[in-house]
Amino acid sequence: MAYNLLKGKKGIIFGALDEFSIAWKTAERVHEEGGTFVLTNAPIAMRMGKINELAEKTGSVIIPADATSEEDLDALVAQAMETLGGKLDFVLHSIGMSINVRKGRSYTDQKYDFTTKGWDVSALSFHKVMQSLYKADAMNPWGSIVALTYMAAQRTFPDYNDMADNKAYLESVARSFGYFFGKEKKVRVNTISQSPTPTTAGKGVKGFDGFIAYAEKMSPLGNATALECANYTVSLFSDLTRKVTMQNLFHDGGFSSTGVSQEVIDGFTE
Ligand code: NAI
Repeated sequence: MAYNLLKGKKGIIFGALDEFSIAWKTAERVHEEGGTFVLTNAPIAMRMGKINELAEKTGSVIIPADATSEEDLDALVAQAMETLGGKLDFVLHSIGMSINVRKGRSYTDQKYDFTTKGWDVSALSFHKVMQSLYKADAMNPWGSIVALTYMAAQRTFPDYNDMADNKAYLESVARSFGYFFGKEKKVRVNTISQSPTPTTAGKGVKGFDGFIAYAEKMSPLGNATALECANYTVSLFSDLTRKVTMQNLFHDGGFSSTGVSQEVIDGFTE
C-alpha cells in the first residue's frame, strides 16, 4: 500500500544490484511513495547487474560512481542535484563487500590489503558519501541519510569476519557525522541493523543458510525481509521521523533482544 509519504522528495539510492538487493526493493518502494531519485552503483557492478531494468521501472537516471572515490562521489552529488532539479531529501547507502570473505580467508588469517579495501568500500565510503553531500551543501533541511548494517557490530558472529569491524565503524560514522549534519544542516543520519537477508552480499557469508534459519527461529516476529527493510527506510525518509538521528535501529523481528527462543531450546532437548 502506498501513502504518498515521499511526495516531492528527491534523493540518491546506492547499491541496487539485482531484484534481491535491499536497495532495489527500497527504490521500488520510494518510487511508489512518490519520491524521485538517481540510482548509482560501482561501474563494474552495473555491467553485471540489471540496474537498467530498475531505472526504467522507476523513471530514474543512473549515474555510476565508485563509492570509494571522492572524485566520483563529488561528480555524482553535483549531477544528481542537476538531474533532480535541486537539493536532496534522502540518501540510502546500501553498500558492503569483504574481500577476505570473498577469498575464503578467515578472521584470523586476513590479508590486510583485502581488509583495507573492504573497509574502504563498506565503512569509510559512508563517510565519503556524507562528506561530499556536506561540502556541496546538497541536503535540504530535515533530509534523511540511512546506511545498512548488521548486528555483528555488537555481538560476535564468527563467519561475518572483518565485516563485523566494518559495520562497527560504519555505525560510529553515523553517530559522528550525524552530530555535524544535525547541528549545521538539520539533517538526520541513522543506520538500520537488518536481519540476515538472502541477497548477493548476504549469501556470500559462509554458512548463510544456517545463519538465516537460526535467526528466523530466534526472532519472535521472524526475520525481516528486504521489502520490510525498504518500508522501514521509507519511514525514516519521511517527515514522520524528523527527530530520529544518530541511532542504530534494529530491524530484526526482535532477534537482538532475545536471549533464547523456545524453538531453539526444543532443538537442544529433543
Ligand atoms: P547486494 O549485494 O545486493 O548489495 C551490495 C551492493 O554494494 C551492490 O550493489 C554492490 O555493487 C555495491 N558495491 C560494492 N562495492 C561498491 C563500490 N565500490 N561502490 C559502490 N557500490 C558498491 O546486497 P545487500 O544485502 O542488499 O546489501 C546492502 C547492504 O545491506 C550492505 O551494507 C549489507 O552489508 C547490508 N546488510 C545486508 C544483510 C544481508 O543479510 N543481506 C544484513 C544486514 C545488513
